[in-house]
Amino acid sequence: MENKQYILKERPYGDVTNDTFHMRRVSMPSLREGEVMVKTKYISVDPYMRGKMNEQKTYTEPYVVGKAIYGAVVGEVVKSKDKSYQPGDFVHGIMPWQEYCSIHTEDVTRVNVPKEDLPMALSVLGMTGLTAYFGMMKIGKPREGETVVISGAAGAVGTVAGQIAKLHGCRVIGISSSEIKNHYLENDLGFDDTINYLTTDDLDYELSRKCPDGIDIYFDNVGGKISDTIMEQMNFFSRVIVCGQISTYNSKEKNIGLRIQPMILTRSMLMQGFIVSNYHDEFPKAQNELAKWISEGKIKNRETIINGFENLPRAFMGLFRGANIGKQLVKVY
Ligand SMILES: NC(=O)c1ccc[n+]([C@@H]2O[C@H](COP(=O)([O-])OP(=O)(O)OC[C@H]3O[C@@H](n4cnc5c(N)ncnc54)[C@H](OP(=O)(O)O)[C@@H]3O)[C@@H](O)[C@H]2O)c1
Repeated sequence: MENKQYILKERPYGDVTNDTFHMRRVSMPSLREGEVMVKTKYISVDPYMRGKMNEQKTYTEPYVVGKAIYGAVVGEVVKSKDKSYQPGDFVHGIMPWQEYCSIHTEDVTRVNVPKEDLPMALSVLGMTGLTAYFGMMKIGKPREGETVVISGAAGAVGTVAGQIAKLHGCRVIGISSSEIKNHYLENDLGFDDTINYLTTDDLDYELSRKCPDGIDIYFDNVGGKISDTIMEQMNFFSRVIVCGQISTYNSKEKNIGLRIQPMILTRSMLMQGFIVSNYHDEFPKAQNELAKWISEGKIKNRETIINGFENLPRAFMGLFRGANIGKQLVKVY
């Protein structure tokens, strides 16, 4: 049987290109005691992977040049050397970008959803839904009537974060790069208003018009100039959830922005960064709550799915061009 794998061919300098990746044929994996062989169904492509393509270690180890890229995968067990897993079971884990791999069952979690709902295990019930949940609930702590601004609003994290804020009675303003995305946010997800950061001449003015009472919570997915502008309009006792800085991930220069300390001081603001894994012990509880909200129709999930293993680089690079609405996934089998 054929088995394909993507490796990191070279570290990108600036934008990621096709030269960053190389697809190669590898042999089918062997299977040891306690392992399952997994046929990859869906692969998640995520902005944090850009950081792992750099040489320096951050909160996570860098990818190794010449070795497989890896990330969150949902797959089907095709062979098992663990009595508690049978062929046909679905599992979630951190696995290589590979069609078939073997993995110890201690490193996977069982996915108990119907086959058609498998993408949800990588979106709203996966890492990005959990990120939205913990960022909003632990740092944002939304209260009825507050104004919430979300950048990267139409993406995997942003769509869920905005809906959680709506659930708590907030006024939610989303920022994205397109009218199609903003239409989706307002008409499908119930965001109160939106701003297109690419077409607006004056983001500061648009924000002040759409947030006449100032901003109580800013869920920052993008950083850079968008965030600098938003920071100026934060209220007393407001909270800034520093979730991601995607606008800076490809930059070749050091990013220098506002001096924010005086603002934080004089407005008694809270600004906190976080990594979703900080809350690992609370994942099951959060997943239950998210699943409940989905079943009650209070939260909608959306995935942008590209078919074909060979399209992994295209799907990944698309994140930096805003090609996705909701969670970007690649369907392999
Ligand atoms: N802290 C954590 O534990 C954690 C966990 C997961 C994700 N994150 C971070 O959260 C953010 C969102 O992640 P996600 O998985 O939900 O990705 P995503 O929002 O689904 O996809 C990325 C989106 O970022 C926007 N974008 C790309 N380049 C941009 C730029 N130069 N300026 C402004 N916007 C840009 C695009 O939307 P537009 O079309 O609207 O520009 C794109 O669709 C990322 O920064 C990610 O690193 C953090």
